[in-house]
Amino acid sequence: MHMTTINRNYLKLPGSYLFSEIARRVSVYADANPDKKLIRLGIGDVTRPLVPAVTAAMHAAVDEMATAEGFHGYGPEQGYDFLREAIAAHDYHARGVEIDPSEIFVSDGAKSDCGNIGDIFGTDNVVAVCDPVYPVYVDTNAMAGRAGDFSEETGKWNRLVYMPCVAENGFAPAIPEEKADLVYLCFPNNPTGAVATRAQLQAWVDWANANGSVILFDSAYEAFISDPEIPHTIFEIPGAKTCAIEFRSFSKTAGFTGTRCAYTVVPKALERDGASLNALWNRRQCTKFNGVPYVVQRGAAAIYTPEGHAQVMENIAFYKRNAKVIFDGLKAAGLTVSGGENSPYVWAKTPDGMGSWEFFDKLLHQANVVTTPGAGFGPSGEGYIRLTAFGGADATVEAVERICKVL
Ligand code: MLT
Repeated sequence: MHMTTINRNYLKLPGSYLFSEIARRVSVYADANPDKKLIRLGIGDVTRPLVPAVTAAMHAAVDEMATAEGFHGYGPEQGYDFLREAIAAHDYHARGVEIDPSEIFVSDGAKSDCGNIGDIFGTDNVVAVCDPVYPVYVDTNAMAGRAGDFSEETGKWNRLVYMPCVAENGFAPAIPEEKADLVYLCFPNNPTGAVATRAQLQAWVDWANANGSVILFDSAYEAFISDPEIPHTIFEIPGAKTCAIEFRSFSKTAGFTGTRCAYTVVPKALERDGASLNALWNRRQCTKFNGVPYVVQRGAAAIYTPEGHAQVMENIAFYKRNAKVIFDGLKAAGLTVSGGENSPYVWAKTPDGMGSWEFFDKLLHQANVVTTPGAGFGPSGEGYIRLTAFGGADATVEAVERICKVL
């Protein structure tokens, strides 16, 4: 009998997706301890409501949809012009970067885009990732067969190039000595909260152009940058348009984790293997994606109005205050901490050489605070935990007090 075969690469994936495993552990604990009040500083999910400018635009769009003239069926797969133009003007032109709206593809999330971008690249490419790293880059390449085989012993895939981001190098990845065709960079970094300087990004761009590599640049957290010297987009770097694709999201910038809207920039000047990557991504999106809802895109566009911008920046400032509370509190308690300054993530070294999952469990059970174990982001994350600044202000203060008590 002929039996349907499966994509056997999926069988190579170890365990479950990191944040699903954390949710599972937390729910086991919460079910067994219904009287305990948990504070969740684990997954980077926002808690502030959508800002008034966004909800007003969405309400108006819903009303439009209820009229024959204002109704919208399938939209353009690449996003509506009003949003692509607003993105180009505010996120790029305002920073002196020339990006054309036709280089911007609106989508339902940077996670999906970071995962789906592999569709346009050969499976024979060598992929380089930071270690620790946002697990989506690794797992999606494993699914596509680019990662090779996983070793439980080393915690690594044998076809991936790992670029350690550790205290010794200031959590900045070194350019790999090995061949690497696709390099995922994320700045401000998830999970370490580190940022990349202009000089560091220039070195990456020069290397990628010289080697014919492509940088997949995730800048989902750019809104948290307050240091004026730190670039917000890879396209501020000369030469980036011939070697980089950038992923941006409204999730952390404007509280869209549940609303879903993001975008990816694929410059027209970016070609590999004789093909335009912009054209390939366009072809992929048109075939597999029907666009983000009109109502959601109207909401997203509202963050580019003066009042919308001011409102979302207030929320960012709110989260940045939380980050400072976490950073200062844990530091005062004697932990070695980094990140948190231009990022919503604080990266803390576990005390007494404790393992990441051990410290995670200790904080869950004794402080009733949910964090993310650094080891879940890769072998070099072992011995660290990540805390997010996306909680409430009082809850964050309380979480830090509780953690300090159990230290
Ligand atoms: C995280 O906690 O790392 C993020 O929430 C994950 C994501 O944005 O998908």
